Amino acid sequence: MFFTLNRAVTALLGLTVLATPAIQAFYVPSVGPQYVEPGQKVPLFVNKVTSDRTPLPYAYYDLDFVCKPATPEHVWLNLGEVLRGDRIMSSEYQLTMGQNQTCQVLCSRTVTSEQAEQAKQLIQKDYRAEWIVDNLPGATTFRAVDTGAKSYEPGFPLGFYNKFTDVAYIHNHVTIQVLYETVQRRLIVGFEVYPLSIYNNQGGCPDLSQTNPSRQPIGSADNSDTKLTYTYSVVWKEEPTVRWRNRWDRYLSAGHSSVHWYSIINSVFVNILLSGIIAIIMLRVLNRDLSMYNDEDLREDQLETIGWKLLHGDVFRPPKFGGLLAPLLGSGVQLLLVAVTVTVLAAMGVLSPSYRGGMVSVGALAYVAMSVFGGYWSARVYKVWRGTAWVKNALMTGMMVPGLCITLFSGLNLFIWAYHSSSALPFGTFVAIAVLWIGLSVPLTVAGAFLGSRKAEIQHPVRTNQIPRQIPPQPWYLKSPVAIFITGACPFGVIFVEVYFMLKSIWQDKYYYMFGFMVLVGAILIITVIEITIVMIYFQLCSENHRWWWRSYLFGGSSAFFIFLYSVHYFFTRLNVSQFVPGLVFMVDSLLASCAYFLCFGSVAFFATYYFLRKIFAAVKLD
Ligand SMILES: *[C@@H]1O[C@H](CO)[C@@H](O)[C@H](O)[C@H]1NC(C)=O
Repeated sequence: MFFTLNRAVTALLGLTVLATPAIQAFYVPSVGPQYVEPGQKVPLFVNKVTSDRTPLPYAYYDLDFVCKPATPEHVWLNLGEVLRGDRIMSSEYQLTMGQNQTCQVLCSRTVTSEQAEQAKQLIQKDYRAEWIVDNLPGATTFRAVDTGAKSYEPGFPLGFYNKFTDVAYIHNHVTIQVLYETVQRRLIVGFEVYPLSIYNNQGGCPDLSQTNPSRQPIGSADNSDTKLTYTYSVVWKEEPTVRWRNRWDRYLSAGHSSVHWYSIINSVFVNILLSGIIAIIMLRVLNRDLSMYNDEDLREDQLETIGWKLLHGDVFRPPKFGGLLAPLLGSGVQLLLVAVTVTVLAAMGVLSPSYRGGMVSVGALAYVAMSVFGGYWSARVYKVWRGTAWVKNALMTGMMVPGLCITLFSGLNLFIWAYHSSSALPFGTFVAIAVLWIGLSVPLTVAGAFLGSRKAEIQHPVRTNQIPRQIPPQPWYLKSPVAIFITGACPFGVIFVEVYFMLKSIWQDKYYYMFGFMVLVGAILIITVIEITIVMIYFQLCSENHRWWWRSYLFGGSSAFFIFLYSVHYFFTRLNVSQFVPGLVFMVDSLLASCAYFLCFGSVAFFATYYFLRKIFAAVKLD
């Protein structure tokens, strides 16, 4: 009795330990409407500083020249936020609903020449600060020239740099303008920040009414300390035109939906062209093939086109290194399901920008959950290839791809650590990821593999011969490099505009929200990849090359090479990164993303081709 109880308690404890990272990973910051009464205090949180010109963010309080409370309070962050480098902490700005402040002193402090130099470096690299009020990032406001419509860019610059005189000026005064609606009660609908650099060595408030005030330089050549005074004004303004539920629109309106439509039309066009070509080829070839059964004379003439049927004894022969391909296929299925889940949730509006870090958090959880399917499909393919060690296969499926990723990531993390960037993973997050992976994902993979290995083997319509058939010399267009180029270029033609938008939103810190477009383009992409792979494999079989398992996988994933090259091109033409570590971060992240793409589409193409071949060989069984 006692032992049973003891065991139950242990199990329960174990479950809690496992569940904690999952809960934290999934943690949703409160995103519902928060009513604010007049006179109520509204907290302002500081987060991080980021730049378009480097992928390394810093926590705001890691800057040595800003005002810092004695004991800043931390806000609980989800996994996605931690990975993004968010560090949300309390500040001493006093915001009271409805009470304008002309000028308040936040703090006065002296800054040593090293600290001033740090400030100058960050200002030179266009770093922008992100603050948060009521879950909205503080924004720089832009107005359209023609309509006067407002649009927001999150964050505001730390200062500005005059490259002719080599002097940096720091923004030591901010005007915080909070917009609210009053339809029922007050709801905050906007948070605008207008920074100002104003020379101030008095310690109090500067004269803000000057039209052309002198600026506050920082980090000049002399090694003396600088006295800095940070001040702020607060303006509360009723905004009649914005409702709470569409308060994010101004952040998102910077997108170019017309260009997006152009990209969709481009994708559809490429796809239709390709489908047309493929349909014509397939119809002609299959038609001829089928009529040959009825016509003995034709059978003599066109022996070369029925090449694929000669392969019935080899086409389903297990591949070399099947023990490696099966885990890769499982991982691909898993990643694909994660991508579909996240995209569909985002397109439905569940993963709105107000759920900060939501994409990565939900993605991580989906990855754990989809392990079952990864294990299942890996085991089923493994069984077809006469594999016997299903547990080994399952463990490889669960550990190989994530293990490589985590190793690469950890190595990169050492570099990021050395830069003190907030995107370096804290130790606790490492532990959480390890628990999610080893404690949840791997067991689920094995469970899925168990189910898969119990399932009846996938049946083939033709029997495999004892002796493999000789493969004749192949035409030039079926040689691996050429074929991989062809199968990679077509899908890339479908998506490159979308890839551009994604790169822009990821690296230049804009919000990506066109998930409806992404679903459309993704569907077109999958169709294209399947079509082009099946056609190439079909031609290959016609020229009597029966080694298609690995090739279908490579063909399907090959556009990943193009995507990686395109990212590198983007890096050199659009981003202005000159240092080694930021460049390395970009390259490693692009490489990982391209690999994930490769795994997904390799698996898609593989299973589609497998299905196709089982169908067409089932049709020739009359032989
Ligand atoms: C605060 O300032 C804004 C803009 O100048 C003004 O519209 C608003 O009425 C002021 N609020 C109060 C309470 O004075």
